[in-house]
Order: sequence, then C-alpha cells, then structure tokens
Amino acid sequence: MATHGSESFFVLGEGLLGETVGGREPTVALAPNVAAVTPPFRFSRLGPKGSGKQLNETNRKKIGSLMAAGTGGQGQIPAGFTYLGQFTDHDLTFDKTIVTFGEHVSPAQLVQNRSPSLDLDSLYGAGPADPESAKFYEADGIHLKHGTSKAADGFAALDGFDLPRGAGTTNAQKRKAIVPDPRNDENLAVAQTHCAMIRFHNRVVDTQLGGVPPSQRFIKAREIVTKHYQWMLRTDYLPRVCAQGVVNDVFNNGRKAFEVGVPATQVPTMPIEFSVACFRLGHSMVRRAYNWNKVFDDHTGTLDYLFIFSGLGGDLGGETRLISTWIADFRRLYDFGEANKPTLEVPANKFNRAMRIDTSIVDPLRHLPPSTFEGDPSMGFNDPERNLAFRNLTRANMCTLATGQQMANFLKNKGVTLTKLTSAQIREGQGGIELGGLTKTQRHALVQNTPLWFYILREAEFDAGRLKGVGARIVAETFHRAMEGSQFSIVNDATWHPTLGPNNTFRMVDLLLFAFDEQKTLLAPLG
Ligand code: HEM
Repeated sequence: MATHGSESFFVLGEGLLGETVGGREPTVALAPNVAAVTPPFRFSRLGPKGSGKQLNETNRKKIGSLMAAGTGGQGQIPAGFTYLGQFTDHDLTFDKTIVTFGEHVSPAQLVQNRSPSLDLDSLYGAGPADPESAKFYEADGIHLKHGTSKAADGFAALDGFDLPRGAGTTNAQKRKAIVPDPRNDENLAVAQTHCAMIRFHNRVVDTQLGGVPPSQRFIKAREIVTKHYQWMLRTDYLPRVCAQGVVNDVFNNGRKAFEVGVPATQVPTMPIEFSVACFRLGHSMVRRAYNWNKVFDDHTGTLDYLFIFSGLGGDLGGETRLISTWIADFRRLYDFGEANKPTLEVPANKFNRAMRIDTSIVDPLRHLPPSTFEGDPSMGFNDPERNLAFRNLTRANMCTLATGQQMANFLKNKGVTLTKLTSAQIREGQGGIELGGLTKTQRHALVQNTPLWFYILREAEFDAGRLKGVGARIVAETFHRAMEGSQFSIVNDATWHPTLGPNNTFRMVDLLLFAFDEQKTLLAPLG
C-alpha cells in the first residue's frame, strides 16, 4: 500500500537516499525487479547539499512541536484549494505510480508513467489499454469508474459520489479504492476532489467527442481534460499560493534554475527541494475543522472525521462505502461567486477558508493516523513520528537538503531576483510561530541554517500567506517543467486556450461547474 511520502529518494548522481522514517521501508528497494536499474522516476537535487547544516533531532522535535501547536492565522484562500493541492501533489510525486511498481511492469510503461509530469496519471493510471490500469475504467474503456455512496439518515445512496471501491470478500477489500493512487483516499476532502475529477473526465467524454473516431475517443478526452486542468493550475491555483509576479515571470519568460534548456520531451525529474520542502506548503493550509455540509455543519466536519470517513486514513466509519451524510458540499469549499453564480453561494459563515500559509500547522497533524504513513498502528498518541512537522523536517535531514539560505544564494546566482530573509525575520516571523520555547543555541541553529520548509513558510508570512522569493520560484519552476514534460502540455502548445469555461477562462469553479453540470443538487446533494 502506497501512502504519503513512503518515498526514499533516488537522486540523480547520488543513488538511494533516506532509508526509513517511522518504520517505513525504502520504496525503491521494495521493487526487486527494478532495483538494479535507475528508476525512471528520478528525483534530482536542484541546489547544493546541506552538508553540516542540518538541525539535530532534539531541535527538530522541539520545532516540530512548536509548529504543530495550531497557532497559525486564518487565510483567504477557499479551503477546497488545499485538497486540490494535495491531489496535484499526488499527480506529481513518485509514489503515485506504485500501482504498477513491482508487478507486471514493462520498462516502456515505467518510462512513460513514472515521470513527475502534470499529466493526471493519478486519475488515469497507464490508460485503459494497460492490463494493470484497465480496472479503473468502465467496460467501454473510455469512461472512468465511479462509486456509489451508501444511504444513511434519510439520504439516499447516490451514484458518483464515492470513489469506486473493491468488490473482494473482506471488508478491507471492499473498502479499498480502485484508483491509481491510494493516497487519494487518505482523507475525505482529497477523495471527494478525486471524485470530481472522475466526473469531469466522464462529462468531457459525454459532451466533447462528437465526430471523434472510437479509437481516438479516450486519448482525445484525456487531452482536453489534462490541458484544462493545467490551465486551471497555472491561472487559478498557482497565483493563490505563490506570488503572482513570480508565476507570470516563470511562465512568460521561462525557467532560470531548474532543467533550463533541456528538450521539452525529455522526462523531467523531481527536485527534492520541491517535494521535501516547498510543496509541503499545503500542510499549513489544512484546517482543524470544516463546515463540511448541511449535516456536519458549524465546524463539526473535523479533520479527524475526514480521516475516519476515508478508506486509507480511516475505515469509512466501519462501512465499506462512504455514507451519504458525508458527501461534500462544494459550495462551501469553492467560491462560485467568482463565476457569477450567486445561487451557488453559501452565507459567509458557512464558507470554509484554508488556514494562512505560515509556519504553523493545526494540532491534529501532530497526531497523524499511523495508517497515513505506514506507521505501527499501536504507536503512542504523542509519538513525535506522528507529527507531520517533525516528519517534514526529518525528511529534509535524511536527504541533506539545502537550507533556505543556501537556496536563496543558489537562485540569486542563477539570476533570480529575490530578497533574502534577514535573521530577525526568520527569528520573529510575522504572525507565525514564536521561538521562545527553544534554547538560545537551538534558536541560533535554526536562524543560521533554516530548514527549507520552515524558510519558505516564513517567507509567506511576509507576503500575507502566499509563497514568495525562494518558495514561489521553486514551486513555479517545478510546475512549469512538469507541464512542459507532460504528453499534453499547455506550455508546449502555446496557442491552446480553454473552451470549457467562459471567455478563455478556466478556474477550479469552472471545472466544477462543467463537471457537475452547474447543478446545485450535484454540487451539494444534501442541500
Ligand atoms: C490532511 C491533509 C494532508 C495530510 C494528512 C498529509 C500527510 C502527509 C504525509 C504523512 C506525508 C509524508 C511525510 C513524510 O514522512 O515525509 C506527506 C508528504 C507530502 N505532502 Fe502531504 N498531507 C496533507 C496535505 C497535503 C497538501 C495539501 C499538500 C500540498 C498542497 C501536500 C504536499 C505533500 C508533499 C509534496 C509531500 C511529499 C511527497 C509526497 O507526495 O508523498 N500534502 N503528506
């Protein structure tokens, strides 16, 4: 079972790094038939090594504890974008293709499918013609399978509102989501995002393929879906989490630091600075509780419940399908006012906004369910390995990740314009965590050699909760390369424009409006 971050890192030129954390096995070594070859999905190191600059374990534990005390600020970004980010992370990173890893895999499949591209293989697997991925598709080999929720508390069973799930004999088998990346069933919010993407694909199939010959129907639908998805990420998601100027600069003027000048068709690598630090920005956006839907209103849709009512982070509350009372109300997660749809807006006090991107994460992430990282189920509630902040800092340590200061210097040398944080800014932050709980020596170590994840979150505190400087540059360049390296690419096809939203626009709300046919009864089936 693949879970979050069960990666070890095969870094180009360095080999396998980062054996285990929290009892985890190194994923690459788990695949005997490919252990001898360079895995086609390769991490790379963008900047220098952070040798001699890592924080010791005691310090990481203390900082992790301060970060996970839940003292961060409220943000402005609609909360749905948190889990769109998580969904995108799973499209980008290594573990997603474990579906084919170690079993019946031809080298050609590996090369095609194990790339950190924004190509939605977390949705499509290796496509309907692939024997291992055929199970994700309906019998026609074009529509994606979807699941049906279970009737509960007066709400009917509803088709299309759960992930497709297994049909084995044990409850665990029946519960297992039939999706290429099991992590998309790690919590209910990311699972419902995946359901929306299934629906998006299926509606493209039903409405956009007039005149396309049968043999071309799937691939055409995938092209339309992938390009719209990339457009939405570039124009809607990225500018919400990264400084708009940096995103525009990278997409208009090209990359300065990452895989500059490589042929567009060359398989991209995944910079560990992105995967181990910068794109973990989303951890600070997670809320402790949501106004989830009509039934779980007024912050009763807690993060703990979102784990429980998923198949990986929990056990679907003991059921084998999602019960209908937990179906998402997308109006509470995305602002349909942006698309001028007042009838799809909810009152402000029902709407969920993500936590501000800063150095703080919410308290439930201090006690992650061990199932989310293949931890021992009997781990103590306060075991530091359950603390996501400690895990992130420890991952960095395991692969000798460059510090924030090193990356700032590195990027400046590449011609990127940015202002380094001062020691005082790193120490004091702006509305993020306070470092009073550290000894003078620990504080000094943190301020001198700041772990990259902490650094980019501190940067965001000085830009009202949006990555800037080092963080924004690394995220924008990695996204750009991941689009360029995709079979279908809005970067390579510069004349392409979206057709499924209004006036060349395609935001996440447009994607949902299209997928759910603009119907309130589908976007919020509980009312
Ligand atoms: C409730 C929500 C989430 C939970 C419980 C969660 C949990 C985790 C865990 C346990 C890891 C592995 C840690 C390690 O051992 O290294 C991880 C890795 C990671 N997370 Fe999250 N995460 C969540 C949301 C997000 C979001 C919203 C984003 C980005 C927007 C994100 C980005 C990443 C990235 C880039 C990694 C590293 C590689 C990978 O994808 O496995 N996560 N997360």
